[in-house]
Amino acid sequence: MKKKILVTGGLGFIGSHTTIELIASGYDVVIVDDLSNSELFILDNITKIAGVKPNFYQVDVCDTEKLNNIFLKEKNIAAVIHFAASKSVGESVQYPLKYYRNNLLSLINLLECMQQFQISNIVFSSSCTVYGQPDVLPVTEATPFKPALSAYGSTKQMGEDILEKTTATGHIKAISLRYFNPVGAHESALLGELPVGVPNNIMPFITQTAIGKREKITVFGNDYNTPDGTCIRDYIHVVDLAKAHVISCYRLLQNKSSENCEVFNIGTGNGISVLELINAFEKYNNLKLNYIIGNRRPGDSEKIYANASKSKEILGWQTQKNIDDMVRDAWRWEQKLKTGLH
Ligand code: WQD
Repeated sequence: MKKKILVTGGLGFIGSHTTIELIASGYDVVIVDDLSNSELFILDNITKIAGVKPNFYQVDVCDTEKLNNIFLKEKNIAAVIHFAASKSVGESVQYPLKYYRNNLLSLINLLECMQQFQISNIVFSSSCTVYGQPDVLPVTEATPFKPALSAYGSTKQMGEDILEKTTATGHIKAISLRYFNPVGAHESALLGELPVGVPNNIMPFITQTAIGKREKITVFGNDYNTPDGTCIRDYIHVVDLAKAHVISCYRLLQNKSSENCEVFNIGTGNGISVLELINAFEKYNNLKLNYIIGNRRPGDSEKIYANASKSKEILGWQTQKNIDDMVRDAWRWEQKLKTGLH
């Protein structure tokens, strides 16, 4: 009997790639997604790649009654992977209440359903933004949290605290994965980042500028205390990130976790600046990007990248893909989108 995993936000960027890896690893997947940041054709493409169509519920995880009905219908859920959340740092500075409501209420609803239906395993989508602007880099999981620089980062700090306090009661075990910057796309070019409207994140802005959908990229500040003045991030291929979720799920199902709530940095350990990312994209894909230097974006941290040794030592996970894989796959996905044959 295959173990069943419920994936909230499963049609999203990371959720869809994780669904593919879960199915490839022999799990059944149930997807809950309200399509606020994805499109239904992603479900068809998951089916094309995986050869099976996951059960799909177009439901907002904040809707208590509808979420409850899914748990009533879907029996024997072995674990939940919770992606469903708003995730733009910049947008969260402008609309903090949207982020607090969506990201915290969805987690609380989900945990209450898990308690009611006696589901004891959750993998939580956390973020490097929990560290704020750290004093020392790279960050380890023991690096103390500084004040979050955005409402988004606050919701991830609070989300981890909710999990820590809830799992202390002993009925639920959790693994929080602190993502760094997910980029790239599936090798089939059937899955990738699908921002609604004007992209908030740098990589889709790069690919949409390269394809001619955007006139230029605005680099948000080049007066930071970094070698080229632009912000430094730890970009990680979305497929490497997806695989970390499968490994974490397996760890929970095998009851290997020594604590009720574990946290892991999921990053490459390499810090790359915005200009270095732009140059890597231009060089590998043999094209020139139109960009200007603009003002800093409120909420941005200056530089952050991971010490991911705990994930390697305890999860047995490490990144396999490099920045060239990331810029190649992101570009192939954008080019496929333009054909309309997605
Ligand atoms: C990266 C850099 C911008 C757009 C992301 C996710 C968040 C979390 C962390 C998982 C910054 C600069 C951007 C643009 C730019 N991941 N930039 N021009 O803010 O690091 O957050 O990773 O939880 O969910 O959103 O990513 O891509 O928005 O920004 O110069 O048009 O690119 O200033 O330095 P961020 P991002």
